[in-house]
Amino acid sequence: MLTLLLSSSDSDIAYAAKLLQEGETVAFPTETVYGLGACIFDEVAVKKIFVAKGRPSDNPLIAHVFAPEQAAEIARDIPTEYAVLSEAFFPGPLTVVLRRKSNVPAIVSGGLDTIAIRMPAHSAALKLIEQAGQPVVAPSANKSGRPSPTCAKHVLDDLNGEIAAVIDGGKCDVGIESTVVSLIDLERPPVILRPGSISAEEIAATLQCSVEYSKNKDAVASPGMRYRHYAPNAKVELVFPKQKIPEIGDYSVVLASSPPQEIPNSAEFRFLSAATLYAELRRADKKKASAIFILLTPDITAQTGLMNRLTQAACIVGEPHK
Ligand code: TXA
Ligand code: MG
Repeated sequence: MLTLLLSSSDSDIAYAAKLLQEGETVAFPTETVYGLGACIFDEVAVKKIFVAKGRPSDNPLIAHVFAPEQAAEIARDIPTEYAVLSEAFFPGPLTVVLRRKSNVPAIVSGGLDTIAIRMPAHSAALKLIEQAGQPVVAPSANKSGRPSPTCAKHVLDDLNGEIAAVIDGGKCDVGIESTVVSLIDLERPPVILRPGSISAEEIAATLQCSVEYSKNKDAVASPGMRYRHYAPNAKVELVFPKQKIPEIGDYSVVLASSPPQEIPNSAEFRFLSAATLYAELRRADKKKASAIFILLTPDITAQTGLMNRLTQAACIVGEPHK
């Protein structure tokens, strides 16, 4: 299959929407990372996403909507907390898990009785979803086990020839995936299933209630968190500012939010932020770095979503991907 590289022009988006309606998969930009989309009610198209990504079938997909009200097409028993959160954070990097309507194919939710909903803050994505005529399910548009793509080239590096098209919308502003919060059990506080750039504190302040982080025992509630997301060839080490960075191999990379005072001769400093992390991991691999050192300065450790991705890249949490 030839993968088309489309622009964000209205005519290209209209063409991409037509491809979705014909049962194809199309990658598109969002403010977090690029997603690989298919029409939610087209089971055959949704299957194509799992095949192209090499994604385990028990890992559910997020349904992307162009307006908060569109959730009513695919979710039931929607609590008022959804209206409060969507008013505060939609469009934006927040995904809300609700109860799934039975019209949604089970494959979308990996067999769960729930559906994750998100309205992305990206005009190309919103136009595409509206013109598709139904919610668009989309995981990150990478091969499973690779870092999420933050530009169209990353998508093509992983999926060229396996998807119908990618819409080029430039670099993603946020750079890490959305915060996922579950409103399924309202006898209990809402649960953060995946941290992101919208913090638990912001959600708690908006809902005026406490919010919990999911514990490991809840892993089944968010199957995606069970899988290790990225295993770079390079050894990834998290280092604190006072630790000395060792000389490893001919070329290594130091990711930090500002240039460190001292780095080994063989190491290259690269700027670290949530927006740059995934591109830097991909670059280090391409350049065959033997090690990636990540400097944990307080400005970095304060970012819960970013720290979650850093510990995953360092293989501290999660099982190897199958
Ligand atoms: O920012 C994002 O969320 C990006 C863009 C493309 O929107 N999407 C994304 O999708 O990161 P994906 O599939 O790579 O990650 C979705 C996460 C996984 O951890 C998955 O297990 C969880 O959301 N998830 C999806 N549906 C769920 C559900 N019904 N219940 C619990 N967790 C769910
Ligand atoms: Mg992903």
